[in-house]
Amino acid sequence: MTRPELYLDAAATTPPLPAVIAAMQQLQQSAWANPSSLHGAGLAAAEALERARWRMAERFGVGADQLIVTSGATESVHLALLGSAAGLAPGRVVISAVEHPAVIAAAYQLEAQGWSVAEWPVNGQGVVRLDQLDQLLSSPTRLVSLTAAQGEVGALQPLIQVAQASRERGIVIHSDATQLVPQGCFPFERLGVDLLTLSAHKFRGPRGVGLLIRAPGVALSPLQGGGGQEHGLRSGTEPVALVSGMAEALMALPSFDPVSHPVPPGSSAQIRRQRDHLLERLLELPQLRLCGPPVTDRLPHHISLLANAADGRPLPGRELVRRLAAAGVACSSGSACSSGSSSDSDVLTAMGIPRPERQSGLRLTLGSWLSDQDLDIVPDRFSSVLESFS
Ligand SMILES: Cc1ncc(COP(=O)(O)O)c(C=O)c1O
Repeated sequence: MTRPELYLDAAATTPPLPAVIAAMQQLQQSAWANPSSLHGAGLAAAEALERARWRMAERFGVGADQLIVTSGATESVHLALLGSAAGLAPGRVVISAVEHPAVIAAAYQLEAQGWSVAEWPVNGQGVVRLDQLDQLLSSPTRLVSLTAAQGEVGALQPLIQVAQASRERGIVIHSDATQLVPQGCFPFERLGVDLLTLSAHKFRGPRGVGLLIRAPGVALSPLQGGGGQEHGLRSGTEPVALVSGMAEALMALPSFDPVSHPVPPGSSAQIRRQRDHLLERLLELPQLRLCGPPVTDRLPHHISLLANAADGRPLPGRELVRRLAAAGVACSSGSACSSGSSSDSDVLTAMGIPRPERQSGLRLTLGSWLSDQDLDIVPDRFSSVLESFS
């Protein structure tokens, strides 16, 4: 019997919304020209691009000139860290111990330019330890990058507090909000950061496009030269249809105020209820344990688990993911970008999870394409897969 696959891997990527596909299809036909061209076709493309830019700027409460379109979060992160460091004397860059590999790579590139890198330790739930704040933000720290929400274990970080403390000390603060924005959009200035990264494919937009949002007055140097697009900060002919698709997807997100509501509302009205119900049923299985923060303090669509066999032996997360996929449940063992390797999870290691369990992490992340009936099937499928290890 073939089983329909239930997609519970929203943190890896999401299916584009029908409205996004429709908008992009239409623009590929009506605004396919180079937006820098001065003829009618070029002007139509430029107009579509600027319309999308204005819509996105409005969504974040910023000026259109504060948005830099990139190819996605990996590029935004590199532009944020390397581009802001270019105008600073080398010092210390602080990143959390649970950043995405893109942030780690960008920070360590700065080492070659005379910077030192410090990793901000996290507690057992994957949240940065605020008792380290004064020490880590002391001289010679000049740059901080702290994820807004951790993708592997769903931990929300005390970003507003860290941003305020950084700014008070004249430190440039960037946040990778790739996993936060899909669960709710907010006025940019409420976070108090200098630079913010996001990626459209995580919130039902197209893959291959993202944004870096910049606070007024934050100095940034481009990583590449060329035609001078994006205010000279990201040369290259703009992908009008992708940008318009990203704007369309942003419009579909709920809004929230991160100051009064540190936990975002979730990509759909029912997602938190669905997640709580699914988690409750999964935790009835004695082989599964919640890993990371409690439901009240984590991303509202996110479940992270540690899995044991009946005899208590930790189960290999990657093999579990394969067997769950064969049983029709698509999920992930930790960060999708690192699931090609079978090493210990760096995030679970940083959280102090004991060695044998660092490979037994599982991540389930929900989206609005899942119905209650879909999710009702998941615990039984889990149960059979867990049985298959005995
Ligand atoms: C937190 C975080 N940052 C950065 C990225 C990289 O995003 P992109 O695929 O848009 O380059 C991801 C993707 O998994 C992510 O989850």
